[in-house]
Amino acid sequence: MVTIISATNRPNSSTYKLAQYYQKKLKEKGFEAGILSLTQLPANIIESDLYKKRSEEFMPIQDLVSKTDKFLFIIPEYNGSFPGVLKVFIDACSFPESFYEKKAALVGLSSGKYGNIRGIDHFTGVCHYMHLNIMPLKIHIGSINKEFDADNNLFQKDTLKFTEEQMDKFILF
Ligand SMILES: Cc1cc2nc3c(=O)[nH]c(=O)nc-3n(C[C@H](O)[C@H](O)[C@H](O)COP(=O)(O)O)c2cc1C
Repeated sequence: MVTIISATNRPNSSTYKLAQYYQKKLKEKGFEAGILSLTQLPANIIESDLYKKRSEEFMPIQDLVSKTDKFLFIIPEYNGSFPGVLKVFIDACSFPESFYEKKAALVGLSSGKYGNIRGIDHFTGVCHYMHLNIMPLKIHIGSINKEFDADNNLFQKDTLKFTEEQMDKFILF
């Protein structure tokens, strides 16, 4: 099973728009992927699902994560790194069945110029610690507010070139 993680719980995020775009494009290539948005996390996750606690609300999320063998993380830049809620999510997931010896590709985005280069590096370190194998080609999309057309498709030439290459490699990864 393949799951795209939309790695913020901010409502109406560009991250979610980008996750939907990746899902659509992968489908056009004959590759099915679901989306798990961190908006789906229990609102009180830090009370209900950390340190071996498990809520009923989180169970289907854990089940989905456990069944996934390949992840695509779409990660916005928040204060020069990945969002705190992504780390809370990772810490809430059971070890080792969630991420150990599985595969993931990473996409960074930001309203600023650099597309979360640093946050993607930070998150790569966390993934390596968890033995989650990261695909070498990582994509960074800066100035995200200039990247979508009226139909929520990416349209800039360079962005299309690199996202297409990443998707093709992800399918084979
Ligand atoms: C808490 C927070 C911190 C942010 N910090 C940065 C930042 O360090 N650099 C940057 O370029 N954009 C920053 N942004 C803007 C996001 O990159 C921007 O909202 C972009 O659309 C991706 O986030 P989104 O998926 O929440 O929309 C921040 C946004 C939030 C909500």
